[in-house]
This record gives sequence, C-alpha cells and structure tokens, in this order.
Amino acid sequence: MPIRILIVDSYQELSQLSAGFVAEMVRFKPSAVLGLATGSTPIGMYEELVRLHIEQGLDFSKTTTFNLDEYVGLSESHAQSYYTYMRRNFWDCVNIPSDQVHIPRGDAGDLARECEEYEEGIERAGGIDLQVLGIGTNGHIGFNEPGSDFGTKTHVVRLSESTIEANSRFFASSNFVPREAISMGLQTIFRSRRILLLADGESKARAIRQMVTGDVTPQLPASLLKQHADVMLMVTRQAAAELPEDVVKLSGT
Ligand code: PGA
Repeated sequence: MPIRILIVDSYQELSQLSAGFVAEMVRFKPSAVLGLATGSTPIGMYEELVRLHIEQGLDFSKTTTFNLDEYVGLSESHAQSYYTYMRRNFWDCVNIPSDQVHIPRGDAGDLARECEEYEEGIERAGGIDLQVLGIGTNGHIGFNEPGSDFGTKTHVVRLSESTIEANSRFFASSNFVPREAISMGLQTIFRSRRILLLADGESKARAIRQMVTGDVTPQLPASLLKQHADVMLMVTRQAAAELPEDVVKLSGT
C-alpha cells in the first residue's frame, strides 16, 4: 500500500493537523497507546494538543504513551534529557497519569535489561496504536541510524556523526552530545498499528525524497515504512521540495 502523503503550507498547519490526527485517535479510543517522539518537529503538535486539552477538554486520563528514545547517560533531571522535554512540552500540561507515561531510562544500571523491559512494557500495553515519528536528515527514525537491522527491538544504539552534529544545537557543543541512546528498534516501530511521520524544513527534503522514491534499504531506515500498511507522511512544502511533480500532485493538497 503506497504511503499517504499530505503536503502542508506551514509549520503551524503541520502542528495543527498532526495534533488533530492524534486527538482523533484519543477521542475514538480513549485508552489508546501512543508512541511519541521528541526533537524540534513535534513541539508545535504538543502545543496544539495541550491547547485542545485546555480549551476543548481533550482527555488523556486513559491514554498510555511510550517514547521512542532517550540518551544514554543522562538522568531524568538533565535539562537535555527527553524525559525533561516530555514533561515540559506534554506530560505536565495535560491530564495523563504519571504511571501511564513511559520513556527508557538512559541512566539505567543494566541497559540491556532496561531495553528488554521497555519492549515487554509495550507488549503488555497491547502494542502501539499510533506512533508519531520525526525523521533525521540521514533518514533515521527513532535513533535507528543508517545500516540498522530491520529486525531490531528496543536496543542501545551508537549515534552517527551526522546525528551528533544535528543535535549539538541543544548542547553547549557537540562534545556534550551523548554518543549512545536507547531506542525502540525498527521492528518495534513497524509493529505499531498506525504511523504518522512528520517532517519540516529543507534539511529533510533529501531524506523525504529518498524515502518516497527510493528502494527499501537499511541505508535509509525510514524507507522500511513503505512496507507498512498504515503510514501517513505529513510534510511541509519545504520538506517536500525535492519530491517529483507527480507525487506532489497526488499529495492531497
Ligand atoms: P528534529 O529531529 O525533529 O529535531 O528535526 C528529528 C529526528 O532526528 O528524528
């Protein structure tokens, strides 16, 4: 089944439509299990979900969430941990009970065990109904870098140089960016029943073109999603800039 592509005009529209997509899932199934992403791209989506919660009573009290990844070595309280990001941008701003949110512990003593337990937690919750993803400039999803095995479950990954460089904007310098992370594996992500991938900015245009027009290859982890039955790619015009004309015409805008 071809990936559905929606090209939108602005970051604001991307944020509103992606939040609407998530909100629809939560309204339809209040006990939905959401897979969540961090990074710059979904910040506007979280803002909009918080607005829907405050102004329209969007109810997360029965929702469960699992985040994609966390840096190894950062404690929850570290300013750049994804735990801190999630509290600041979402968990603390809506009515989701704290025992229903999950993110790998980057400072776990036994990382292999942490990975196993995280994967088991997802299974126990019944699997992920809707996984929100960003995409790296190198085509990574979660922290599954080019060359990742399609069969991986939650595991410890080494960040590629390009990811360390891209993420250094959040740290004092690239020297402070952790070299490893715990990430859901490609198989974990692929098992989600529905996937929403968001991309904004020219820096993502090449990865988006390769994903949409290229072969399925471990060199571009996001290409795996072409084999998934229910994927929505929501991209701004900037991120869609390198897509061929015929694809743009079919994109629903
Ligand atoms: P970004 O990151 O949203 O900060 O661009 C996405 C990613 O690296 O997966």
